[in-house]
Amino acid sequence: MSLRIEKLSEHLAAEVSGIDLASPIPEDAFAALKHAFYRHSVLVFHDQDIDEDQQISFSKRFGPLEPTMVNDPSGGGGWINHLSNIDEEGNIIPPADPRMLYNKGNSLWHSDSSYKEVPSRGALLYAVEVPPEGGGTEYASMKAAYAALPEEKKKNLEGLVAEHSLLHSRNKIAPGLMDRKFQQEVPPVKQTLVREIPETGEKTFFVGAHASHVIDWPIGKGRDLLEELMEWATQPRFVYKHAWKPRDLVMWDNRCSLHRGRPWDAANHRRIMRRTTLLGDGPTV
Ligand SMILES: [Fe+2]
Repeated sequence: MSLRIEKLSEHLAAEVSGIDLASPIPEDAFAALKHAFYRHSVLVFHDQDIDEDQQISFSKRFGPLEPTMVNDPSGGGGWINHLSNIDEEGNIIPPADPRMLYNKGNSLWHSDSSYKEVPSRGALLYAVEVPPEGGGTEYASMKAAYAALPEEKKKNLEGLVAEHSLLHSRNKIAPGLMDRKFQQEVPPVKQTLVREIPETGEKTFFVGAHASHVIDWPIGKGRDLLEELMEWATQPRFVYKHAWKPRDLVMWDNRCSLHRGRPWDAANHRRIMRRTTLLGDGPTV
């Protein structure tokens, strides 16, 4: 096995080649992968022929997985989120169906599971079927964005805590998407605004669509700050855009990057993806 890792953009994302994720990966190659993951935040693998069990076993080598939410229509409590516009009978789900509206929340810049007390460490997304155009995923480096902030601004962010809530982000798409039972499964949580990543000692700020407001600040003032940081982090210079091919696997560090799904002609084209999610190390506050 000759592993190659090549950068895809200045601040994040690298393509990994010379590896077959369906076969056992030797310890030294896996150590190199892990190192690349923490360094580049996003890793892209092409032409991987893996089934659900192989995706789960590869994901687990990076640490324990986070189970999907029982009330999430794409998860149902299992290890895989099935992000798809195809129903059980193989038909395209109309874009206005609540299941599609719920998934539309992924079109907002976010970090997966930041609305959970223990936010996700990372995620792995595998492309089963992709549309002929559109439906890409964009990634933004919160690590590079934090590093580029003026020192004065960094100082002002120290010690701040934000409330993150899935209800907050889903209400931006369509109020009423989450029933009471679902809301009770994921009550709002607190997350520190500035995080230090243990593996590298680097700092990032932790924002995204689920971040609602800053604790102990007037709501409007906190929202303005979160909005300003999101805009800063998602400037084109910090972004890598991934155009999916079937059998691509992309994994990303949710602590160091934001991502969003881009639209496609969902009424006419199939898109079937499956995601596994890495459990975080613990609460951030
Ligand atoms: Fe996501």
